[in-house]
Amino acid sequence: MHKTESKIVAPTTGLRGEIVVPGDKSISHRAIMFASLAQGKSRIRGLLRGEDCLSTLKAFQSFGIEVIEKADDELVIHGRGLAGLQEPFDVVDCGNSGTTMRLMSGILAAQPFFSVLTGDQYLRKRPMGRVINPLLGMGARILGRDGNSKAPLAIDGGGLQPAEYHSPIASAQVKSAVLLAGMQTEGTTTVYEPHLSRDHSERMLRYFGANLESFSGGARVTGRVELQGCNVEVPGDISSAAFFLVAGLIVPGSELLLKSVGVNPTRSGIIDILQQMGGSIELINPRELSGEPVADLLVKSSDLSGIDIGGDLIPRAIDEFPVVSVAATFAEGVTTIRDAKELRVKETDRIAAMCESLGALGADIEPRDDGMRIVGGKGLSGGQINSFGDHRIAMSMAIAALNSAVPVEILDTACTETSFPGFWEMLLRASR
Ligand code: S3P
Repeated sequence: MHKTESKIVAPTTGLRGEIVVPGDKSISHRAIMFASLAQGKSRIRGLLRGEDCLSTLKAFQSFGIEVIEKADDELVIHGRGLAGLQEPFDVVDCGNSGTTMRLMSGILAAQPFFSVLTGDQYLRKRPMGRVINPLLGMGARILGRDGNSKAPLAIDGGGLQPAEYHSPIASAQVKSAVLLAGMQTEGTTTVYEPHLSRDHSERMLRYFGANLESFSGGARVTGRVELQGCNVEVPGDISSAAFFLVAGLIVPGSELLLKSVGVNPTRSGIIDILQQMGGSIELINPRELSGEPVADLLVKSSDLSGIDIGGDLIPRAIDEFPVVSVAATFAEGVTTIRDAKELRVKETDRIAAMCESLGALGADIEPRDDGMRIVGGKGLSGGQINSFGDHRIAMSMAIAALNSAVPVEILDTACTETSFPGFWEMLLRASR
């Protein structure tokens, strides 16, 4: 459990300087998992040391994987191959991390031992049927709370058959869980999804030598091909950079250079959205790091206008809607976000949370079943608001406070450690 903590953020003028955001959360989880399943040594640089990724790291240590800490953001992992994990001696605690629980369910469903996965009060309320059901279809034995739909999950692993799975939702966690189960199962497993979700698993599994093919509409893996240990460089997390992108745009007189940010097209929807709103964001020095596209991002304060957001853009920016709603509050005109019902089952119900917190500061924001409608350009007052224990709500509200009329107190802020250790210090430095 996070200890209760609060922060007061005051309005500021002009954010300036260079910012290096921590490593990408999704890629860090996968690097730890795939290096553990690979044969031999892998070196991971730029790893995110947020609480979510530490949950993944501890889990794999409890499966007998040797991890050597080289530096704050660097690890060496001695992988033991697809058949090298051991039964954990205790319940595995995934903390607040949906990625840890869902991807690991796919891995553990195929391992010939018993394991139990649990998490914090938020994770235990989130839907797990979306991974349990396709895995049951492959012959897995999984039991969960609330009619097999929620954690804790008990997994009696092994004995899977390959599958063809048509996912009803665009979810990288579901897609990855099925591919990871398929990767350990004789035969070919295929996952189809309605819109392309982030493809970090596909890219990194290929990088580690898996026989995995992506095609329009899904991905397919051939099972029982061993992965080989390798070196992974983790790019900066675009979902963390997003807070500084919006800050740079809405605080007049700002200019920020965000260095070495991942710009994988399945994640870069936030750049498209903010550019469509009229934001000045330039991609400089595009390059590749361990199979992932990366660039430096130059952002300058801009006059924003409201837009309509839906369809394919939603999974490409799924974690950024709290901060998009902040940008929309400072844009002229109406912004609508639709097709985004998934926001209701994130770390918290992010539609309800943003409407309540921005609304409490005087924003004209209204929830919709699958999104929200925001009438921007009316300014924000100060006050006291809640993070609902959700890291992205806490950080989004801090960005809103930079451009409010008077200071804002944000309650329950320790949760930012989940994905962005050092966020508050970085914000303070950029504000000077
Ligand atoms: C993630 C996928 C997304 C995202 C989450 C991380 C991943 O979730 O919201 O923060 O690393 O695969 P869904 O797969 O549920 O959309």
